[in-house]
Amino acid sequence: MKYPKEYLDEIKNRLKVSTVVSKTVKLKKRGKEFVGLSPFKTEKTPSFTVNDEKEFYHCFSTSEHGNIFDFVMKTQNLRFGEAVKMLSNLAGMQPYTFSKQDEEREKKWKLYKSICKNFSEFYKNELFKNEKSYQAKNYLKERGLSGIDVKNFNLGFVTEDYDYYENLKKDFDDKIIKDTGLFYFDEKKKKFISRFRNRIIFPINNISGDVIGFGGRILDDNKNLAKYINSPETPFFKKGSNLYNLDKARKLSNKLEDVYLVEGYMDVISLSKNGIENCVANLGTALTSKQIQILNQFYNHIIICFDGDQSGYKAALRAAENIIDELKPDKKISFLLLEDNLDPDNYVNKFGKENFIEITKQKSIQIHKFIFEHYLSQTNENPSSKAIFEKKLREIASNIQDSFVKKYTLEYFLQKVSDLTPNINLKFNKKYKTFPKSLAKTKSYFNETKSLRSFEIKEFSFLYILITKPKLIYENFHLLDNVKLYSDENKQLYNEILNQSENLLNLNVEKLDIDKSLISRVTNYASVKHIISKNLNDNEKILEILMEIIQDLKNYELEQRISELESKFSQDFSEKTFNEIKELKKQQKIN
Ligand code: CTP
Ligand code: MN
Repeated sequence: MKYPKEYLDEIKNRLKVSTVVSKTVKLKKRGKEFVGLSPFKTEKTPSFTVNDEKEFYHCFSTSEHGNIFDFVMKTQNLRFGEAVKMLSNLAGMQPYTFSKQDEEREKKWKLYKSICKNFSEFYKNELFKNEKSYQAKNYLKERGLSGIDVKNFNLGFVTEDYDYYENLKKDFDDKIIKDTGLFYFDEKKKKFISRFRNRIIFPINNISGDVIGFGGRILDDNKNLAKYINSPETPFFKKGSNLYNLDKARKLSNKLEDVYLVEGYMDVISLSKNGIENCVANLGTALTSKQIQILNQFYNHIIICFDGDQSGYKAALRAAENIIDELKPDKKISFLLLEDNLDPDNYVNKFGKENFIEITKQKSIQIHKFIFEHYLSQTNENPSSKAIFEKKLREIASNIQDSFVKKYTLEYFLQKVSDLTPNINLKFNKKYKTFPKSLAKTKSYFNETKSLRSFEIKEFSFLYILITKPKLIYENFHLLDNVKLYSDENKQLYNEILNQSENLLNLNVEKLDIDKSLISRVTNYASVKHIISKNLNDNEKILEILMEIIQDLKNYELEQRISELESKFSQDFSEKTFNEIKELKKQQKIN
């Protein structure tokens, strides 16, 4: 049996080749492409490339070449059907089941698509050709849109009198036309009538660029009519799983790191026309986790920029609370709050692209900070109010799915909350002195190794976990980002392990190309040895221990830098040095 092309295309549209490949091959960005060590051959210099734009991978040493389906078939020994199942799951899609129902659905989908496309084309043409559209044309001109902008977004105008239903009836049956939600049955006139009469229409595409619904705006704001209406939910138009302009914006994700998420169609169009094309809008409903997951397939950083009025602020807050659960270690969500009731559309038209990008840099704040500051502003001096504040923050953090992000978000909240109780902190701080002391304590376990320096002991523990749990490390490789070791001997071993990053799954320490005594030092002196061997199968616990050690190592690095700067400061008394010290101390406190 054959999978419908649309289904396979949707998988391809939702998954970048680099996303799929990087699950098994460590990739580095190089220009437009990614490179890494070939999964088809053991090699030391990377000859394997991935090009997201062209949607393929190529291995120069074996001449293997293909798309995402080929990749998982070859690397995981799967048959085509199995590869499709696995990748559709990764793309967050329903599996395809080849039942009679699916076939029916496929047929309907083709008709549905074709009706929406005809409708869109027809009314686009009406906007340009029909005399009765002059008001609509003027309106769009007044809003600063050129003919090119209108064409780029395929805007149309549904004139009052022309009933396109009759045209469609020639080629499609009532049932499927009704399914599109473009017409509703008028009981008085006893006939189907266009939902979008006298409105400018904004076609909404799915991720593959097929029209699946519309938004429609009236020309003159009028209290009795909704300013915008949208297609209703249909079997093929689910508002919570689609985003306006995603089909175009996703294509820019090879070049750009972040994407703007705005409220309205006009925001997207104005940003785009001003040269900010990496933007999407949700569709007149609350933002969903699903929409965040979809954007995260393409972009690492989502910047939510809703209207700078009270309702925009409320919507932003609601969004923040809904989606913080989705936060992942390698992804970021920020909020850009505009002022003076401006929306992105007004703002960018008034101040231009450069200014918009500049205020994004200066003013956007990350989701955890946004939430914290909002609730802080709602809290007053009374103890109950503060108690509610802390409870609320704990509750929000506890819903985060990723256990690491959860932990650090909670830590961020609690650190900030503790500023509200300075007296309690005073006692607390006396009891729990930070890193230098804990290192000293660890050191006392090693009377026989007095010559070992304090940080070395931590390094042994760190390396011990790396060599006993290579698979776990492989799966959590990002944890090693920015981890520096200080002792030259340990560094050698660490670098050798990093060189093996692709082969960690079958790491054999005996075979590492280093002096074996480096390994025996680690296995002899690692203080975590016993606790690790007791919990060898409890990965969660081991990761927790590892993260603590990494934190200690990073703190050590901070301490080193602070003391270097302090001695510099004692000589130059420069404000710059002073500020650097202050900044580092702040980091130390957060950690
Ligand atoms: N919206 C809606 N129904 C309404 C009002 C708004 O579905 N009655 C949705 C639409 O998707 C709209 C978005 O919310 O694009 C933002 O609404 P709003 O800020 O009111 O519209 P603007 O984009 O500012 O529209 P305009 O500039 O055309 O006034
Ligand atoms: Mn608006």
